[in-house]
Amino acid sequence: MKILLTGGAGYIGSYVAYLLNKLGYEVAIFDNLENGHKWALKNNKFYFGDIRNFSQILEALSDFRPDAIMHFAAYIKVEESTKSPYKYYENNVIGSLNLIKAALMSNVRYFIFSSTAAVYGIPKQVPISEDSMCNPINPYGESKLMVEKILKDIARSNFLKFGILRYFNVAGADIEAKLGQANKNPTHLITRVLRAALGKIPYIEIFGTDYPTEDGTCVRDYIHIKDLAFAHIEVLNYIKKEDKSEIFNVGYGKGYSVKEIIKVAKKITKVDFPVKIGKRRPGDPPKLIADPKKLLSLTNWEPKHNNIETIIKDAWEWECYLNKNPILLEY
Ligand code: UFG
Repeated sequence: MKILLTGGAGYIGSYVAYLLNKLGYEVAIFDNLENGHKWALKNNKFYFGDIRNFSQILEALSDFRPDAIMHFAAYIKVEESTKSPYKYYENNVIGSLNLIKAALMSNVRYFIFSSTAAVYGIPKQVPISEDSMCNPINPYGESKLMVEKILKDIARSNFLKFGILRYFNVAGADIEAKLGQANKNPTHLITRVLRAALGKIPYIEIFGTDYPTEDGTCVRDYIHIKDLAFAHIEVLNYIKKEDKSEIFNVGYGKGYSVKEIIKVAKKITKVDFPVKIGKRRPGDPPKLIADPKKLLSLTNWEPKHNNIETIIKDAWEWECYLNKNPILLEY
């Protein structure tokens, strides 16, 4: 089976590509390398291009002729999306629309879409199931929900089947595969905490301690990249086997607060890095925890790395590796 991955040079896409390679799929990557890295492409066939450029996508699809597309390419920063909404709608919505159109023109049958827990906004109750109300509170979540709606309408009147994965907080790395998140200016909590432990940033700031949670800091469901990657394959298997489109939450169903993450990170790194209390970050819901029942019951996915210490330990090994090989941040 041939699969084309947009954003396959990025953190999640490159790891899914690695897994697909291991499982014997034929892979091609379409990426503009704005946030991705050349080294993360490994030996995969590569199309340099931008999803905002329709002819570049159509050319890649006409040449590679994939059976399925996995669409990772997107802007993903919640706070940035509140400051630059146009940028998010243009890349995430118009880019996806271009890709879907090219997919239909190229007779691609299966479409796996990276969505997000941010589509739920501030959920009425946690854990959150897939049929909870979607009411995003930032343009990032809104842009992903718009694409979900487009996919639903298009799948109703076409042969295309989609699998939508609503990711919760992805973290961790795979040091053996030499793949992980490599960002010069990371915004994600676990990466920033580990950079503070390495002394790369002077301190970690907690964005708000007045949330309606147990310790007042935001709670998230952190999922290991290794488990997240497998979910893509199991969802693809499911939509193929059942010939059906479906939406899945991808998380473990357990949440950790910002303060708890900091505590675990201090234990793993054995560094007592400075922590400051700051103001709330715009666009942050207090608590996001997945109800993963649907993924667990309908597909063969099973979590294997659902331990916060493992996630942070693997992320730490990767950050130490990056620290020794800073060139990886450059290309
Ligand atoms: N945080 C801090 N200090 C930091 C960085 C983050 O306190 O230096 C806090 C944030 O305010 C938030 C929590 O840590 O409460 C997690 O923040 P991240 O930036 O790591 O992740 P988000 O929850 O904002 O967003 C991530 C993905 C989104 C996805 C969401 C789903 O980036 O794409 O998880 O849960 F939608």
